[in-house]
Amino acid sequence: MHVTRRQMLIGLAGLGVVGLGAGGVRYWLGRPANVATHDYELIAAPLDVELVAGHKTPAWAYGGQAPGVELRCRQGERLRVRFINKLEVPTTIHWHGIRLPLNMDGVPYVSQAPVLPGEYFDYNFITPDAGSYWYHPHVSSGEQLGRGLVGALIVEEREATGFAHERTLNLKSWHIDQQGAFTDFSVPREAARGGTPGRLSTINGVATPTLDLPAGQVVRLRILNLDNTHTYRLNLPGAEARIYALDGNPVEPRPLGKEYWLGPGMRLDLALKVATAGTELSLRNGPLRLATLRAVASSEAPGTWPPALPANPVAEPDLARAETVRFNFEWAGAVSVGLEQGAAHSFWQINGKAWDINDKTCADRPIARLQLGKSYVFELRNMTQYQHPIHLHGMTFKVLSSDRKDIIPYFTDTYLLGKNERAKVALVADNPGVWMFHCHVIDHMETGLMASIEVA
Ligand code: C2O
Ligand code: CU
Ligand code: CU
Repeated sequence: MHVTRRQMLIGLAGLGVVGLGAGGVRYWLGRPANVATHDYELIAAPLDVELVAGHKTPAWAYGGQAPGVELRCRQGERLRVRFINKLEVPTTIHWHGIRLPLNMDGVPYVSQAPVLPGEYFDYNFITPDAGSYWYHPHVSSGEQLGRGLVGALIVEEREATGFAHERTLNLKSWHIDQQGAFTDFSVPREAARGGTPGRLSTINGVATPTLDLPAGQVVRLRILNLDNTHTYRLNLPGAEARIYALDGNPVEPRPLGKEYWLGPGMRLDLALKVATAGTELSLRNGPLRLATLRAVASSEAPGTWPPALPANPVAEPDLARAETVRFNFEWAGAVSVGLEQGAAHSFWQINGKAWDINDKTCADRPIARLQLGKSYVFELRNMTQYQHPIHLHGMTFKVLSSDRKDIIPYFTDTYLLGKNERAKVALVADNPGVWMFHCHVIDHMETGLMASIEVA
């Protein structure tokens, strides 16, 4: 099916489509006539996009965009989204980083049945924490995220923060060739290493865009890594930039420094003091330019650095009484030969067990059982030569220490565990359920590096 943006708009005419404030009209995010069950309707459907000039890429879109439409709500309020699947494949939505009830977490066969083509599912949950989050499927993730089903979920602080300007930068690379056609989302020899990389890097679906920012103002840049594979080594040479939040959670503001490594699934909220009009900065991944940030004249009085963002209401782990649980992340050995068609490769393991992406019962065998309300320290040990952004659903954890770098303890949902690194994180097991615990390099997750943790 090939659906143009115009056709989708016509299709939504009956929904009373509204524009939701600044940052563009959100067409595919309709307001229903009857608000008894939901406030928004979000459609996933095929959409041709132009990533390579003059060529079409058959992407899959949320709300008429790939990356998907930005969803916004306010901290402590309820988000009610009727998700409508107009794809030809089953899917779900997982709300990455949001502490919510298990039945809203979007994991097939654990949280819900997959949403079949033509069907819908009502997601309905409170967003307890402010910050930059995102949403994506948890079904056939290599292809579904690869085709563009990734979008920002911004939870606004309850009170004004002091930021008058902000931009969301969705980082994603695309597995496409020079004609815009998709190439393999996963190649076994890459999956067994760092993951299959996309060839074309984009920000908000555009390769090396120029972003205009108001001169003299302090702008909040919400940088989201929605990529399947890449860890971006973010740097902004010559910029006056401070880190305000990591993975949604506020930190004491500090200089960006030379480089920040943003693994798949991770987010960085920066405050950038924009220089005088005409100045250009380069946002880079290592030595590669991702975007040009251009200062344009502004009539506003010069901005000042806002205070630290208010902390999220995450429970402080009781380290004196915490029980330690160890997790070893290992390479599972040789690339298997003579694999049947459709069988899953298993290149990676957690504590000696590889997740089988085709086995719907894996979550019935949790790798750890935590007692509801109790504090735990997780010792994460990377026994491989590759880095793994380790992500936990349902709960936020506190990063305590690492044998490789100095850590200022902070809360997160994803920790980038470096090659052969050992790190300690802690949490209060305060959300009952069976929660996925996995590497967010999609190739790794789909070839073994996933497990579930039960809290009861
Ligand atoms: Cu972005 Cu299982 O998560
Ligand atoms: Cu998640
Ligand atoms: Cu990994």
